Amino acid sequence: MAYKDLREFLALLEQENQLVRIEEELMPEPDLSAIGRAAPNLDNGPAVLVEKVTGYKNSVVLNVHGSWQNHALMLGLPKNTSIQDQFFTLDKLWSDYPVKPVWVKDAPCKEIKITEGINLFELLPLFRINKFDGGFYLSKALVVSKDLDEPDNVDKENVGIYRIQVQGKDRLSIQPLPFHDIAIHLRKAEELNQPLPIAICLGNDPVLSFMASTPIEYVQSEYAFAGALKGEPIELTKSEAAGLDIPARSEIILEGYIIPRERHIEGPFGEFPGSYSGARLQPEIKIHTITHRANPIFENLYLGMPWTEIDYLMAL
Ligand SMILES: Cc1cc2nc3c(=O)[nH]c(=O)nc-3n(C[C@H](O)[C@H](O)[C@H](O)COP(=O)(O)O)c2cc1C
Repeated sequence: MAYKDLREFLALLEQENQLVRIEEELMPEPDLSAIGRAAPNLDNGPAVLVEKVTGYKNSVVLNVHGSWQNHALMLGLPKNTSIQDQFFTLDKLWSDYPVKPVWVKDAPCKEIKITEGINLFELLPLFRINKFDGGFYLSKALVVSKDLDEPDNVDKENVGIYRIQVQGKDRLSIQPLPFHDIAIHLRKAEELNQPLPIAICLGNDPVLSFMASTPIEYVQSEYAFAGALKGEPIELTKSEAAGLDIPARSEIILEGYIIPRERHIEGPFGEFPGSYSGARLQPEIKIHTITHRANPIFENLYLGMPWTEIDYLMAL
């Protein structure tokens, strides 16, 4: 595959005229959300890399999956491959499961480590995805958690995308719908009244985001499916605190745990059908460690009235 991580995929998109680079400094609000809303409506649906955001050091990328052209490039196909051919390619690669991951030393996601004075509002260029959202959201993070009954069973480890609201300097809330794998992990932890360690991985290889959005069996591994789609193993490393298996080349890792049996008001949030979900009590997360690459790219996703980036992630 022509890329190993988000950075290399962005380079590929740029080479294929599927990336717009904005050098001018922009505001987090309303500019970033407006870009996420507009980009999939362009004929080629490019990713948009905003190099400078007022108040932050990081660049921001939006709409990485937001067109069939980008989707084709993700699958290693020419950008004008038809949707039908993309579907059949995906179907064929699917049967190569499992291509097991490998664990590497010197993982780029560990270049910089923060354990003191964590303040997500200062570290991340946060913005409201839709105007009436109850707060700032991480909408494209991979959330990694383990089955506490079988912590060494990598296949039962889960990698999923679940919406996450920033609630405080080191506090988040998450929406694990009861029929999803993370909810099984959380139920087991809460029965024991134990914290559930999680790693929130921001800025990822696009195939990992694709697999984290795709329902598979509880005992199947998102990493081994991503390896099958790429034709090569995904590189992993162990998280600092809880030994979770995390992508070695993610841009930013937020490590923490879901606090057992505590709930926090989460929402409202502009959702993928184009309406707002209400505010409900959802599990709360405490973050204790952050690691990141040098000059990390913050990747987030706009969703709302279809079609937006999420529809390409979920369509096939
Ligand atoms: C952008 C995005 C946001 C999502 N938000 C949620 C969410 O808040 N809660 C949830 O349970 N699933 C959410 N999903 C769906 C899950 O990621 C998806 O169904 C995944 O396959 C779940 O995997 P699992 O069944 O292995 O847990 C979201 C998907 C995407 C692409």
